[in-house]
Amino acid sequence: MELKITKTTAPKAKPVDENNLPFGKTFTDHMLIIDYTEGIGWHDGRIVPYGPIEMDPATTTLHYGQAVFEGLKAYRCPDGKIRMFRPDRNMARLNVSNDRLCIPAIDEEEFTKAIMELVNVERDWVPSAPNTSLYIRPFIFATDVFLGVHPSHTYKFMVILSPVGPYYAEGLNPVKIYVEDEYVRAVRGGMGFAKAAGNYAVSLKGQVVAGEKGYSQVLWLDGIERKYIEEVGAMNIFFKINGEVVTPALNGSILPGITRDSVINVLKSKNIPVSEKRISIDEILEAYNNGTLEEVFGTGTAAVISPVGELCHKGVKMVINNGEIGTVSQMLYDTITGIQSGVIEDTFNWTRIVE
Ligand code: PLP
Ligand code: COI
Repeated sequence: MELKITKTTAPKAKPVDENNLPFGKTFTDHMLIIDYTEGIGWHDGRIVPYGPIEMDPATTTLHYGQAVFEGLKAYRCPDGKIRMFRPDRNMARLNVSNDRLCIPAIDEEEFTKAIMELVNVERDWVPSAPNTSLYIRPFIFATDVFLGVHPSHTYKFMVILSPVGPYYAEGLNPVKIYVEDEYVRAVRGGMGFAKAAGNYAVSLKGQVVAGEKGYSQVLWLDGIERKYIEEVGAMNIFFKINGEVVTPALNGSILPGITRDSVINVLKSKNIPVSEKRISIDEILEAYNNGTLEEVFGTGTAAVISPVGELCHKGVKMVINNGEIGTVSQMLYDTITGIQSGVIEDTFNWTRIVE
């Protein structure tokens, strides 16, 4: 797809203090837009100055939430190159989400190239301070102007970019997580496995209540028995119990995280036992009580590897590893960020150079 590029005449000042970049508050000078029209397909790809978009009040997305998104990052590497981490996986997952929400499929390679072209236009915006990157947010939403409930005939794919530091204010310091026992995020047959806007809307209430109790995130349990561990608001979850790392199996109601998959591969490559299975909160409590719950950490593009220092379930506070980051969590953080930022050889062939 040939992209039409219109450069801004009013470039913004770039952040001066890269060591204090908040997550997702600063946006670059340009954005990517590709339209979809039934009968034509995806068309009119263009890079234009970043700015507001006009919408008719009857745009279906605003009413029924036919919207999906992705999150990935680009890194400035010591060899001067800019690398993206596993963009093919994000585009493949976007198509899985599209399918669930009746949004037309994208051409994964073509759209990856379009994103790379945008990142290339904005390459001066990729920060270089440690633990910073350029967060890439592709999203698709329905644009028909109509109040009936049916799949839209028109859509917009857009990509915006944001130079970011750590997602949590805690950085690599362990976060406190509240195990939610009242609200649920998803059920099998629903859209929990998709990166759909509505999955985040439904999670807000639990997150607000947990926040009022002093917790940064919620750990969701399954929607039926309220017993099996699912995932955290913006990350997948791992437990190290008695030397073995375990994470909930992909069951249709959790997001198949790309960092999750990367972590499983790194653990296997280092011969650290890892398995994907159904895990109940009772097993975690039991491991905590008998002293074998060694580490807990979350994984996500925004969150990277985020150690969990405390889990609270029904009033029981489980303090993990004295509230400190564990050795496996630290190794995974160093390995994954090392590969992402080009300081460790990418033997998995996960990164893609932006040029
Ligand atoms: N689970 C949820 C609900 C998320 O929002 C995210 C973040 O994208 C993840 C898990 C982790 O996925 P990934 O590692 O692909 O970023
Ligand atoms: C990500 O990690 O990319 C996410 O999408 C998490 C969150 C910011 C929604």
